[in-house]
Amino acid sequence: MKRAIYPGSFDPITLGHLDLIERSCAIFDEVIVGVLHNRAKKPLFTAAERMEMIREVTKNFPTVKVVAFDGLLVDFVKKCEARVVIRGLRAITDLEYEMQLAQTNRVLSSEIDTIFLTTNLAYAYLSSTTVKEVARLGGNIQAFVPEIVEKRLKDVYQV
Ligand code: PNS
Repeated sequence: MKRAIYPGSFDPITLGHLDLIERSCAIFDEVIVGVLHNRAKKPLFTAAERMEMIREVTKNFPTVKVVAFDGLLVDFVKKCEARVVIRGLRAITDLEYEMQLAQTNRVLSSEIDTIFLTTNLAYAYLSSTTVKEVARLGGNIQAFVPEIVEKRLKDVYQV
């Protein structure tokens, strides 16, 4: 069984994340979306809300599981009995941070490897932060997030 962990904040999930999940499903038998449950990050949506949105938009992918985690990513990966972490690379600007994460994780646990997938060009500019900003200011976010996420953002910002 080839299992991979796709970790992140997903506050909220975007079409860029969804594209990576879909492509990961074509490579791995099971993809566990690990939702960081970290109150210090002050997310817009609670972990439960973020997970509910991810579950809804991945409901047609039977090999996807959505699980919350706290603490070290390497501990979560081990708990899931996995050895592979997937991260998306949008542009070269992501590389420094992503290398830092991947290298730190390898020092913490040498049996865990990070695999980078290049983000679909259509979503190379996308981030949850930008999407929230556009939504908050009443802009159209249809091209950035699944429909149910668009609705949730509009409800939160009352736009
Ligand atoms: O979507 P994000 O915010 O870029 O995801 C970052 C995430 C969740 C992958 C990263 O912050 C993480 O792994 N956090 C768990 C804590 C941890 O393991 N830290 C050590 C590695 S630097």
